Amino acid sequence: MDLQLSGKTAVVFGGSRGLGRAIAAELVQEGVKVVIIARDADRVQRTATEIGCLGLPGDLSAPGAGTALMHQAAGLLGRMPDILVTNTGGPPTGSFAATNATAWQTGFQGLWLSAVDAIQAALPAMQANRWGRILAVTSVAAKEPQPGLVISNALRAGLLGMVNTLSREVAADGITVNALLPGYTNTDRMAELGVDNASMGPKIPAGRLGEPAEFAALAAFLASGRASYITGQAIAVDGGFLHSI
Ligand SMILES: NC(=O)c1ccc[n+]([C@@H]2O[C@H](COP(=O)([O-])OP(=O)(O)OC[C@H]3O[C@@H](n4cnc5c(N)ncnc54)[C@H](OP(=O)(O)O)[C@@H]3O)[C@@H](O)[C@H]2O)c1
Repeated sequence: MDLQLSGKTAVVFGGSRGLGRAIAAELVQEGVKVVIIARDADRVQRTATEIGCLGLPGDLSAPGAGTALMHQAAGLLGRMPDILVTNTGGPPTGSFAATNATAWQTGFQGLWLSAVDAIQAALPAMQANRWGRILAVTSVAAKEPQPGLVISNALRAGLLGMVNTLSREVAADGITVNALLPGYTNTDRMAELGVDNASMGPKIPAGRLGEPAEFAALAAFLASGRASYITGQAIAVDGGFLHSI
């Protein structure tokens, strides 16, 4: 299938490892000029060299960073991107009782405002081109809250409302806006958390964690010309983990 992506441009948040890296690599394979953004400058550069894209170090949890980094990325690409993938690290973990206002604000800035700022920066060019793809990486926690992740559960569910609302406002401009919900996927982060096939596999109908490339395949399709009539959706890649319909 020709995804009709050759010559397009993309910015992928959190693209130096894990799900973001897999998405960036998939888009590069499809002929997209990609900028990845993440905090660790060495890793950004290393990944950019390995997968053949451009790297931009930056912390998306800083106020105003979403806007500033999009303009820097546009400078590297020569224009605002056709495709924007919002994806940052998970917010602080914990129960409601153990979570203070600072943690809520940090989570809100990193997960939510960075995405809103970046989308606002990217939209005018997408509207002028009458083509755009906005992909928000959230989590299965957006549909089925997970224990001990109160900030993630709350904010990611809210993001789905934002994605669907925005999708309706820009659908006639040729822009699609979708949320991708990873289930338990075999990234460095999961390894650091001690989550593996032995501990989690029995709780997943597929019997194993997903691989980042399996998640990135959906992202590449939703970013493509072939997915022009799919918008406002929240689609899980979770090996059957979600029970809700
Ligand atoms: N993997 C899973 O099973 C799973 C399941 C559900 C949801 N998710 C969610 O999906 C997202 C990606 O997960 P992952 O497993 O790919 O995580 P990961 O392996 O930790 O990768 C996260 C990426 O985001 C970057 N990043 C983190 N915080 C950032 C910030 N403030 N500013 C800029 N870049 C930042 C990281 O680089 P730096 O650290 O250098 O900035 C890295 O490139 C997370 O929000 C996670 O909660 C993952």
